[in-house]
Amino acid sequence: MVLDEYLSKEGKHGFVISSNASHSLSPVMHNAAFKHAGIDATYHALGVSEAELPEVVAALRDPRVLGANVTIPYKHAVIPLMDDLTAEAHMAKAVNTIINEGGKLRGHNTDSTGFLRSLKEGAGYDVEGRDVVMLGAGGSARAVALALLREGATVGVYNRTFEKAQSLERDLSRYGDIAVLRLPEAERAIMRASLLVNTTSVGHMAYGEADSPLPHGIMPREMVVDIIYRPTKTPLLEAAERQGRKIQNGVAMLVYQGADAFTAWTGKPAPIAVMFKALNEALDAEG
Ligand code: ATR
Repeated sequence: MVLDEYLSKEGKHGFVISSNASHSLSPVMHNAAFKHAGIDATYHALGVSEAELPEVVAALRDPRVLGANVTIPYKHAVIPLMDDLTAEAHMAKAVNTIINEGGKLRGHNTDSTGFLRSLKEGAGYDVEGRDVVMLGAGGSARAVALALLREGATVGVYNRTFEKAQSLERDLSRYGDIAVLRLPEAERAIMRASLLVNTTSVGHMAYGEADSPLPHGIMPREMVVDIIYRPTKTPLLEAAERQGRKIQNGVAMLVYQGADAFTAWTGKPAPIAVMFKALNEALDAEG
């Protein structure tokens, strides 16, 4: 069996499946959580090719497996390999969490609930009735938009590729008030908005970009969230902080999506503070 090497260790097992697992912080976070909660389980990162994906996913039906997380680029590709989908996965058209329920694989999505909890519990920020502008229209943007709409925010979406923003709007408009923005209208909308959320990869270390995704450093009225966590403070967040706005990076979303996955697998509340500590220590160690 393809996972035998991992399953030889006693106890239960969790995995994160991606094309390149070596940079994943999920093992650090989940292993700290299992240990703290007294759960005899180990979490492993798996780098999987597209050709191997069906076999690896099928192996998750083993009774020793609690489940797995799925990340770039397989959140969509695993959908046909599931036995069923939760409403969240169905709405997001993406699976970031697989739950092994007695040999049946249920595809779930905790990115959306994780984002919302990161705002509410992490930052004490309530988006209901607020004007929000989002930058980006990729996979993460869908989860973020869904969370905001279900919570009753009014959402404007600006993306470099207009057609992708239109497609996001088409898919999500049934959940609430969402509109596509073009420049320069997008800049005015940001200045009027309470909250700005960056879901693009601009500012991420791996892309070597020091730029803010915003054209002229314009800011919303209250808060800026960047879902990037490497670096922990992107140029966008630095600018927002300099201008006196509340800021939040992507560590909180990572923790809360992981926390909701942990609960889906174990039925227990996740030790949020322990997960934050483990992640922040790992990020600090990276320098
Ligand atoms: P994820 O799953 O992390 O959301 P993705 O689906 O590849 O990743 O989406 C990346 C987002 O970052 C997209 O909105 C992309 O814009 P395009 O749709 O125009 O490609 C945005 N993005 C990436 N690089 C960018 C850049 N240099 N400037 C502006 N937007 C960028």
